[in-house]
Amino acid sequence: MEEIFSFAQPPTIQPIDSVIARQAGVDLSVLRLDVMHPSVNGNKWFKLKYNLLEARQKNFTTLLTFGGAYSNHIYATAAAGNLFGFRTIGVIRGEEHLPLNPTLSFAVQQGMQIIYIDRHKYRQRYTAELQAELKERFGEVFIIPEGGGNLNGVRGCIEILSGDEEFWKRQFDTVCVACGTGSTLAGIVLSLQPGQRVIGFPALKNGEFLAGEIESFLKNYRASGVPTTKNAIASWELICNYHMGGYAKVNDELLLFAQQFTQEHSIPLDYVYTAKMFYGVMDLLKQGFFPPSTRLLLIHTGGLQGNLGRE
Ligand SMILES: Cc1ncc(COP(=O)(O)O)c(C=O)c1O
Repeated sequence: MEEIFSFAQPPTIQPIDSVIARQAGVDLSVLRLDVMHPSVNGNKWFKLKYNLLEARQKNFTTLLTFGGAYSNHIYATAAAGNLFGFRTIGVIRGEEHLPLNPTLSFAVQQGMQIIYIDRHKYRQRYTAELQAELKERFGEVFIIPEGGGNLNGVRGCIEILSGDEEFWKRQFDTVCVACGTGSTLAGIVLSLQPGQRVIGFPALKNGEFLAGEIESFLKNYRASGVPTTKNAIASWELICNYHMGGYAKVNDELLLFAQQFTQEHSIPLDYVYTAKMFYGVMDLLKQGFFPPSTRLLLIHTGGLQGNLGRE
C-alpha cells in the first residue's frame, strides 16, 4: 500500500505575492496539500496513511470511522477505502436528512455504509460499550477515530514537512496550520527543529483546550517508541480568536476574504478550516505580529469538498 500512497502528486509550495506581506517584510508561501489527489488530499492523505497500513497489516477488511454530516474525514476515508480495497462504515452524528448532502452522497457512491447515531450516543463513541456494540453489529472492524486524530494520524503528519526538500531549502522558520483535533499540528511540531515555530489556528470556539490535547499527542507519541525524525521539537502556540463564531460558522467578512484571496492568488480555500487560518494570518500581518524577514509557510490542509454543501 506504500506504493499506492506514492501515486499521489507531491504537494507544491506556492509563493504568495501579497501587498500586506510585503509591507510587513514577511516572505509568504502556501504548501498546497490540497492538490495531491482529487479525493484523498490535504492532511487526510497523511492522517489516513498509517491507519490504513495498520489495518492492512492486521488483516482487517473493514474500516469504521466517525464524523459529522459534512466531514472531510468521512469523505476521504470513503474514497481511500474504495481506492485501497477496504469496506467502509461511516458513523454519522445526528439524524438522516434526505436527500443526502454532497459529502454523504459521495461517501455512499464510494461504497461507504452510513449509519446515524444521536448526539448523546455520539459523545460516547470511544467508550468500550459503544465500540463493542459496533463490533457486534459489523464484525471485526478497524476503528479510526473522528478526524483521523490518533497516533497513526500524527505519524503521517510528521511526513508533511520532514520529507519536503523544498521546505528545508527555502528555510521557512514559521509554519501556520488550522486545527480541529490538533493531530496535524502535533505531527508538524514533531518534524521540525527547536528554532522553528508552529502556530495553530483552532477552527472551533474556545479552542484553548486543544493545547492539552496537543500535549497529550506529543507525549504519547514520544512514549510510543514510533520513530520521529528529531529528538528536540519546534516551539508551538495556538491563536484562538479566528474561529468566526464557532465550528463551521461563517460570516460575510470571511466569505468575502476567501473569494478575494482565491481571485488574487488562484488558491481555493475551504470555509471551515483554511479560510479562517488564512484570514487570521493576514490580520496578524497587518498588526505586525510576525517579525520582519520571517519566512512564513501556510499549510493548505484541503477540505474543499465541504464548500459544496454551502453552494
Ligand atoms: C481541511 C482541514 N484542515 C485542517 C483540519 C484540522 O486537522 P486536525 O484535526 O489534525 O487538527 C481538518 C480536520 O481534520 C481539516 O479537515
